[in-house]
Order: sequence, then C-alpha cells, then structure tokens
Amino acid sequence: MARQFFVGGNFKMNGTKESLTSIIDNLNKAELPSNVEVVIAPPAPYLGLAVTENKQKTVAISAQNVFNKASGAYTGEISPTQLKDLGVHWTLTGHSERRTIIKESDEFIAEKTKFALDNGVSVILCIGETLEERKSGVTLEVTARQLDAVSKIVSDWTNIVIAYEPVWAIGTGLAATSEDAQETHKGIRDHLVKTIGAEQAAKVRILYGGSVNGKNAPDFKDKADVDGFLVGGASLKPEFVDIIKSRL
Ligand code: G3P
Repeated sequence: MARQFFVGGNFKMNGTKESLTSIIDNLNKAELPSNVEVVIAPPAPYLGLAVTENKQKTVAISAQNVFNKASGAYTGEISPTQLKDLGVHWTLTGHSERRTIIKESDEFIAEKTKFALDNGVSVILCIGETLEERKSGVTLEVTARQLDAVSKIVSDWTNIVIAYEPVWAIGTGLAATSEDAQETHKGIRDHLVKTIGAEQAAKVRILYGGSVNGKNAPDFKDKADVDGFLVGGASLKPEFVDIIKSRL
C-alpha cells in the first residue's frame, strides 16, 4: 500500500511575526517535491499570517490544538469552525505536552478529534509513551489505549494522520532508532486492523516524531510503516527542507 509521504512541522510556542515570516518565506523559496504533503503548525496568534504568507501548493497550515465546541463561553479556546473560516484545514490533537502539562485525557482528546473532523478540519493525532512506560514494556498498550479512545467515537479515519511520538525522544536530541520506530509503527498498524479494519489501517499514515533532523531523517527511508515525520525543533530551521526531501 503506497501512502503519500507526510511531513509535519510543529513550531510549538515559538517564534515572532518576523521569524515566522522568514521561515515561511524560506519554505516558499524551496523547491519542494510535489509528492510530499507538508503541514506546518505555527502558534495560534500567527495562523492568519501563515495562511497569508504561504505560497506553496503542497504546504498546508495547521493549528496546534482545537476545542470540541464551535463557539461560546470557552475563554481562550480555538474553534474548528473558526479555523476553517481562516483557511486552516488541519489541527494537532493529543500532543504529549498537552497530555502531560495541560493534563488532557484520552477521552477529551478523542472528543476534540471527532469535533474537528465533523467540522471539516483534518487531524494529526499524537500518541506515544513516557520513558517509564517504555521501560515497563507497555508501549503498545499505551498507544492502543490512546487510539481506542478515538476509534470508540470515530469510524472514518480518512482525515486522520497519526503521529507516534515517544515522549522520551521529544526535544532530547535522542531519536528512537529507525528499527524501534518501525517495530512500534507496525504494532500500531496491527492494532488498527482490529479496531478500524484492514482497509483503513493500510491507508492511515503513521508519522514518527521525536528529535528528527536533517541528518537522521534518511535513516527512516526504508521503514515500511513510517510514513513521515512530525518535527519540532528542526521545523524552525532550514534543515526542515532537507527532512521534506529525505525520501528522494
Ligand atoms: O510534535 C513534534 C515534537 O513533539 C517533536 O519535537 O523537537 O523532538 O522534534 P522535537
């Protein structure tokens, strides 16, 4: 099953109008491969700027989070209908920093994922285990629990991309080996066969995230179940273009 290579850039809470304009201008100048889907997620205050500045047809703009309501008395939250209104057609949900720092539950993340999809916003659904869970050998039990919360209420996974991000590899410079990533991605895909069916499981893209950079991205090239990356720190640097080209 050929799945289109997908590279996401999660800028997290970084950047200024000037620096983000420069990053997007650099992307605009790059010769990007037409067969690679790219999604960049700037901080919410700069989503409008990113939509306006982006000139690349293969690059889409994403939010980093979304709420499970369209409008109302939810101070500080982000509505998927307002994202669509702005020309933003993607959002992340379930990033480990929102699970661990903001304490978002699997069920709340699932509700937000469903609401975004129901309102025409595609989702990069982030999952992954902590170092303690990895050491205890329960990685696939954790990712299954996180995925099952979503598959309980979402049956159509056409517009979901999964990002497997082992928490212990995020921001540490210590990426998982491509072999370990492939093993976990295969386990995730095998679990999806049981929950969303073989056809959908074969189609859904599973990204690896956690200390990906221009140097190690090519290591993942021949891993059958690694369909792309969700990049943090390196997405703010020129090497992000190298990562986008790493499958060439
Ligand atoms: O969402 C991607 C992010 O968590 C990975 O961060 O800096 O390790 O690439 P980084």
